[in-house]
Amino acid sequence: MEQEFNILIADDSHQDFAQIICDEMESSAKARGTGIAKRSPDYIKQKMREGKAVIAFTNDGIWAGFCYIETWSHGEYVANSGLIVAPSFRKGGLAKQIKKKIFNLSRQTYPDAKIFGLTTGLAVMKINSELGYEPVTYSELTQDEAFWAGCKSCVNYEILMSKERKNCMCTAMLYDPKDHYEPEETTEDFKQHSKLYERFMKLKQSKLLKPFLKKENQKETNGAGKPKSLFHYFFNL
Ligand SMILES: CC(C)(COP(=O)(O)OP(=O)(O)OC[C@H]1O[C@@H](n2cnc3c(N)ncnc32)[C@H](O)[C@@H]1OP(=O)(O)O)[C@@H](O)C(=O)NCCC(=O)NCCS
Repeated sequence: MEQEFNILIADDSHQDFAQIICDEMESSAKARGTGIAKRSPDYIKQKMREGKAVIAFTNDGIWAGFCYIETWSHGEYVANSGLIVAPSFRKGGLAKQIKKKIFNLSRQTYPDAKIFGLTTGLAVMKINSELGYEPVTYSELTQDEAFWAGCKSCVNYEILMSKERKNCMCTAMLYDPKDHYEPEETTEDFKQHSKLYERFMKLKQSKLLKPFLKKENQKETNGAGKPKSLFHYFFNL
């Protein structure tokens, strides 16, 4: 039977969980070998106090998951960021429930805002598709400098900047309240094309990495030591 969770809009009573949430975000990103915009416990606490986050617990009160809202371009855009599910509660539908809750909270609080997310994961693409998001180019996202500054702590930031912020390892997805498909349509589209999206994502990522590998290999050949492996770029070793 599927485990049940309490999925709540976070408030100041949850601030003690900020550290464990940050730690899990960081170790999950390392384990996946992908980049992440790092967040401090203070930032997470602020989101909780402002009621701009969703937190999930088991019935026994064990922390299980989290996600928060950010606004950009003076409220024109909203991002549902920092989605994390504790490893022992994954693959049970919790991320889907958290995303649904934070999406509804975003729609209620910012009814006119475009809601977007960046992700390297197929699971999140699937969840977003079921909410009515569609894949878009980076030019359709907020151009707010503060948002892109958040990518500075990501291991792939150099790639993002080399592409003049037009592309990177993440796939961008957006829900525009004024112009969107119905969730049934985007769900069906994802179902039909998920294999293609997966291949495209891998292809895009290896293409984006190539010039960096060449550059690094050249440096290594000119200098001392062995060229760095692909893992170097993923794990930032
Ligand atoms: C990504 C993450 C949030 C998913 O959480 P979860 O609770 O396991 O996800 P769900 O169980 O709700 O799964 C949603 C769907 O994605 C699928 N899915 C889950 N993990 C998947 C994976 N690694 N690869 C492909 N599909 C996956 C599930 O099968 C499910 O599909 P279904 O509706 O057909 O069953 C979780 O793995 C996590 O916290 N990872 C580390 C942090 C992270 O990657 N955050 C996202 C940043 S954008």
